[in-house]
Amino acid sequence: MTSATKKIETLRAQIRKHDYSYYVLDDPSIPDAEYDRLMRELIKLEQQAPDLITPDSPTQRVSGTPLDAFKQVKHIVPMLSLSNVFSIEELEAFNKRVMDKLGVDKPIEYNAEPKLDGLAVSIVYKNGQLVQAATRGDGATGEDITENVRTIRSVPLRLEGKSAPSILEVRGEVFISKHGFAQMNENARKHGNKEFVNPRNAAAGSLRQLDAKLTAQRPLEMFCYGVGQVDGGKLSNSHNNMLKQLRTWGLRVCPLVELVKGVKGCWDYYEKIHQLRDQLDYEIDGIVYKVNNKTFQEQLGFVSRAPRWATAHKFPAQEEITTINEVEFQVGRTGAITPVAKLEPVFVGGVTVSNATLHNMDEVARKDVRVGDTVIIRRAGDVIPEVVKVVLERRVKGARKIKLPKKCPQCSAEIVRVEGEAVARCIAGFVCPAQRKGALKHYASRNAMDIEGLGDKLIDQLVEQKIVENLIDIYHLDEATLSNLDRMGTKSAQNLLAAIEKSKMTEMPKFIYGLGIREVGEATALALAEYFEYDLARLMHADEEALQAVPDVGPVVAGHIHQFFSHQGNQQLVRTLCDEIGISWTVPESDGNSSVSQLSGNSYVLTGTLSSMSRDQASQLLRAKGGKVVSSISKNTTALIAGEKAGSKLAKAEKLGVPVLDEGEFLTLVDME
Ligand code: IVH
Repeated sequence: MTSATKKIETLRAQIRKHDYSYYVLDDPSIPDAEYDRLMRELIKLEQQAPDLITPDSPTQRVSGTPLDAFKQVKHIVPMLSLSNVFSIEELEAFNKRVMDKLGVDKPIEYNAEPKLDGLAVSIVYKNGQLVQAATRGDGATGEDITENVRTIRSVPLRLEGKSAPSILEVRGEVFISKHGFAQMNENARKHGNKEFVNPRNAAAGSLRQLDAKLTAQRPLEMFCYGVGQVDGGKLSNSHNNMLKQLRTWGLRVCPLVELVKGVKGCWDYYEKIHQLRDQLDYEIDGIVYKVNNKTFQEQLGFVSRAPRWATAHKFPAQEEITTINEVEFQVGRTGAITPVAKLEPVFVGGVTVSNATLHNMDEVARKDVRVGDTVIIRRAGDVIPEVVKVVLERRVKGARKIKLPKKCPQCSAEIVRVEGEAVARCIAGFVCPAQRKGALKHYASRNAMDIEGLGDKLIDQLVEQKIVENLIDIYHLDEATLSNLDRMGTKSAQNLLAAIEKSKMTEMPKFIYGLGIREVGEATALALAEYFEYDLARLMHADEEALQAVPDVGPVVAGHIHQFFSHQGNQQLVRTLCDEIGISWTVPESDGNSSVSQLSGNSYVLTGTLSSMSRDQASQLLRAKGGKVVSSISKNTTALIAGEKAGSKLAKAEKLGVPVLDEGEFLTLVDME
């Protein structure tokens, strides 16, 4: 072996190892930059010695010339489909058929696997080399997508080790992860291209590109779940162990596969994975149970085009088709107007859904949704059901375009849409009952003031009967008024009053969050409280520049906060709540880890002019790190920060022996240099 050959082989082996760690084990072994360096070096060496290039080199994933059409591929072992079960009864019936046919009475061992929602693909390895990849097609004949599959990094171009059969056809699912899909669509939006409806469609479109260069740009992945043709070698008689063998050859298998026993084991696995579903980064639409023992599989055989030894236990569908009967406009807590589709009720994601959000008018336009349209709606996990797309082929003649109303449906005030913003708003603010109710509900909610018993229905009544018009009114409720309301007795009125009283002692972030300032969520509320050291007056008086110094607060949010506290009515409201009603909080003990506590216990005095910032900004920086800023020097002062033209304070500091920091030293202290 020449030294060039040797070097090339070493580089290929290194890259393969890293590909395996990164794409198959999901556990990167080296930084991307290092990987790129190895790849560049290999490309360079191969360019110098083109006759050393082999098809399984990691540089050869993307082929040069686009195809005119896909060739047909006959599957030597047909690619079957699966029967379905949708309930525990159907699962029991499936298991009984298996036991009866096998004549066994002990619980059957099943290999339980997530049913991946992508596309079935067959890949043939000959003597360890990837030689062909094909789609399922009609099960007997598929399309040759070898060039496209070669671009998928979790698919090895050659198998590891020497123990694989000389002909091994692996089968599995090609898919795009949820985050890969989100990135693809973000990209499409940026370039003004059409977005994909879901990861499965995106994967299908990507696999069917005639130009593999395009496929290579798509984040396709693969999990193997079985085998087809096998020659010149033996595989385990246990399906589960066979999957382990595939892993040892460098093939990627879903890490969630598990051996279970009987219907109970299947059902527990189903529940477990169903719970996990939303957290997984890939779409699954059910569970596949496979009799684990291959001899049993052979005895069971097939019916029509599905094996008797396996079945798919489907999750309730997350996407369904229905029609839009009407579109209504809802007014949110901040006045945001949301178009909501009133649907012909459908069962989707495990519940009956009759409303789905259309988000905003930009989305309505983008999806070209009209009243009367047939649409695909989606409800995933706890997410609000949404209209995914219109089935245009089914558009009826009279389908009506959706128009944004000119007046708020709740209070008839004007609706405005700020240039460049997708959201339209009712301008009435707290005068609008919808916004008033929303604001009160938000204020009383668990993560805000947590007033137990002051729920949505009660707030609706209180606002509609004009008993409560603002946050202060909550604190003036009395037993007589409350016990007159629907579903309210003396006892529940007393309980509510006690809960209101109890809620007055709160935490500052909860109070800030409860005020419902636009785009100030719980995390921002906490950051504000910490930054301003639990001193509400400082938060209220901070200008936009000061607010932007708070972690994660950008110009837009700073603008909202400043606007809120500049408003006379809001200032009055907050003062009344704190000074008269008695809302209060304690300052939590610092844990000593955050940057806030870096200077805690220290006190500083500022004097003279700093060239890099105003004295106000300097004070804020010191406070942000937990330091105190005081106006006069004493012997307890930690240090005097003296800018240009420092006067009497400098003299006093020197007299008392208080250290003096110049601007450079100060900047180092607050990590600005
Ligand atoms: S086994 C003979 N296992 O489901 C058994 N299929 O209707 C054939 N699928 O299009 C398939 N995840 O692509 C099997 N863990 C899994 C699967 C799975 C998804 C797809 C498969 C096929 C369909 C079967």
